[in-house]
Amino acid sequence: MLSLQIDHARIADLEPWHADQLAALFEHHGPDFYEWLPWEHFEQVDAARGFIEGFTRGRADDTRRLFGIWVDDELVGGTLFPSINPRAGSAEVGVFIAESARGRGIVTRTVAAMLDWAFVERGLHRVEWKCAPGNAASRRIPERLGFTHEGTLRETFRVREVRHDLEVWAILRDEWAGLPARS
Ligand SMILES: CC(C)(COP(=O)(O)OP(=O)(O)OC[C@H]1O[C@@H](n2cnc3c(N)ncnc32)[C@H](O)[C@@H]1OP(=O)(O)O)[C@@H](O)C(=O)NCCC(=O)NCCS
Repeated sequence: MLSLQIDHARIADLEPWHADQLAALFEHHGPDFYEWLPWEHFEQVDAARGFIEGFTRGRADDTRRLFGIWVDDELVGGTLFPSINPRAGSAEVGVFIAESARGRGIVTRTVAAMLDWAFVERGLHRVEWKCAPGNAASRRIPERLGFTHEGTLRETFRVREVRHDLEVWAILRDEWAGLPARS
């Protein structure tokens, strides 16, 4: 269970009954999110619910997790483990947040909390972050948290008609020392 408060932001499991809130978030911020995320039609409540339900099943079989980020009771984003491989002890982490809530460190601190959960509570060994090289805001997050850029997969990430390279960043349990002090 991961449930936390970061300043005004509350992070908790995103449940199927939040589907209308997720659809509203994508209705308002879809064009911005869709530039870097391969998802489609989440402004439709059924598609949003289907997405959340996939993660509800993933929570049951320990293969993925999805959390919402609320500020003043408004859903402003989500943070997720799109894959957890218990056998390998590895997981991938990702996040999306509305422009109005960016630049406040909510994402950095949320991902730090997810790393605490992954390594300390869940006992995983390795967490990955994947992003397109052109997604500067995204790649700053693993950089800031001490991940290592291990390599770049060429033209493997298709977002609508565009094929992007995908940088693979990772951090191992022994390397995670908690949220670094801000410089
Ligand atoms: C990628 C994305 C999640 C990054 O969000 P963000 O708001 O930049 O991330 P943060 O909340 O951690 O903000 C970091 C900034 O807040 C500042 N900040 C303020 N208080 C802070 C604190 N206490 N701790 C850390 N940073 C803080 C930092 O200085 C940093 O600014 P900088 O980028 O100029 O160095 C966001 O741009 C997004 O949702 N994009 C669309 C979806 C997407 O691309 N997702 C990732 C797919 S790989």
